[in-house]
Amino acid sequence: MKILEKIKNKSAIVGIVGMGYVGLPLGLAFAAKKINVIGFDLDEKKITLLSKGKGYLKHISDSKIKKAVDSGYLKATSDFSRLPEVDAILICVPTPLTEHREPDMSFVENTSKTIAKYLRKGQLVVLESTTYPGTTEELLLPLFENAGGKRKLRVGKDFYLAFSPEREDPNNPDFTTAEIPKVIGGVTPQCLKVAKALYDLVIIKTVPVSSPGAAEATKLLENIFRSINIALVNELKMVFDKMNIDIWEVIAAASTKPFGFKPFYPGPGLGGHCIPIDPFYLTWKAREFEINTKFIELAGEINTFQPYYVVERSVEALNKFKKSLNGSKVLILGAAYKKDIDDMIEGDDKYWKSKGKKNPMRIKEE
Ligand SMILES: NC(=O)c1ccc[n+]([C@@H]2O[C@H](COP(=O)([O-])OP(=O)(O)OC[C@H]3O[C@@H](n4cnc5c(N)ncnc54)[C@H](O)[C@@H]3O)[C@@H](O)[C@H]2O)c1
Repeated sequence: MKILEKIKNKSAIVGIVGMGYVGLPLGLAFAAKKINVIGFDLDEKKITLLSKGKGYLKHISDSKIKKAVDSGYLKATSDFSRLPEVDAILICVPTPLTEHREPDMSFVENTSKTIAKYLRKGQLVVLESTTYPGTTEELLLPLFENAGGKRKLRVGKDFYLAFSPEREDPNNPDFTTAEIPKVIGGVTPQCLKVAKALYDLVIIKTVPVSSPGAAEATKLLENIFRSINIALVNELKMVFDKMNIDIWEVIAAASTKPFGFKPFYPGPGLGGHCIPIDPFYLTWKAREFEINTKFIELAGEINTFQPYYVVERSVEALNKFKKSLNGSKVLILGAAYKKDIDDMIEGDDKYWKSKGKKNPMRIKEE
């Protein structure tokens, strides 16, 4: 296989579609290993900045980007007709929820249609966006197979297709993109072989699984596990508070148990993508099989109640000083979903505006 040879001698060119929180560090990881990368994005601003060697995410320094661009290994374009130039296409576009809290697959679907338009023989396509089990084989595969017109392209022979979930944790100093093991599921054994060979060039450890569905489900399990455990401590926080017991003290004490306990911490509400959004991709898909994912729904309910709980507690605190919430100036620190990053997704006005909608958090404030 030509592509395997190219990967082996590091002459394969990697195309990344969607140069955001996931795509940009992934591109930098390949470029750092002297593998040519072309970043594709619809957002002209990002392309212009990248082409000048400048960044747009707070936690990724300009110098890191400049180094990759100056080395010649990282290029960026919004011209998708250049897709045939690359040997591997890694899809890192958003997978949000619609206003009815159902999967919004429009980004993945539009990207896949564009790829299908330009797909050439011998290319590898990997979906990295978090999604419901079945996406790769039910949505992407038919589009790519039919890309050949009457003479259908054969997966595993004419092109290769896999799913490999992104586990990016922006600004985590302990784990960079290259240091986080990567799960991969190929549509055929050949697809897995090619995708694994590519990621083995940059990622510390690859973890092959039997199918794209298993890889898609793995990512959801990881996020649902966190959502449910966070909901549990959020609930305990409210109970213990009434009992005058400090939840933080309790978690610290429980954490001294050397087995069978993993600490999770309460918070004022959820932001980001992984916990408030991704679990509902499974809820939606499970309905097709007539299964209600009660655990996931309950965790979502408890977690989305937390901002209201904070408001209630703020009212109580103000009352102690004979003040009402109405008319008080309240300083809110930390609008991003975790410390030291600028990602305000799920709470960000710009994000909702780009979707032609009003930020639902702001509507609640009003
Ligand atoms: N941010 C994280 O920490 C994180 C972690 C793990 C997984 N993920 C998953 O990775 C995926 C991407 O998330 P992200 O945070 O990088 O999103 P993001 O919004 O930061 O970046 C996505 C990029 O895709 C571009 N884009 C949208 N449609 C496009 C199209 N049709 N063609 C080309 N580019 C297009 C956007 O302009 C944007 O630059 C999501 O599925 C998310 O769930 C994110």
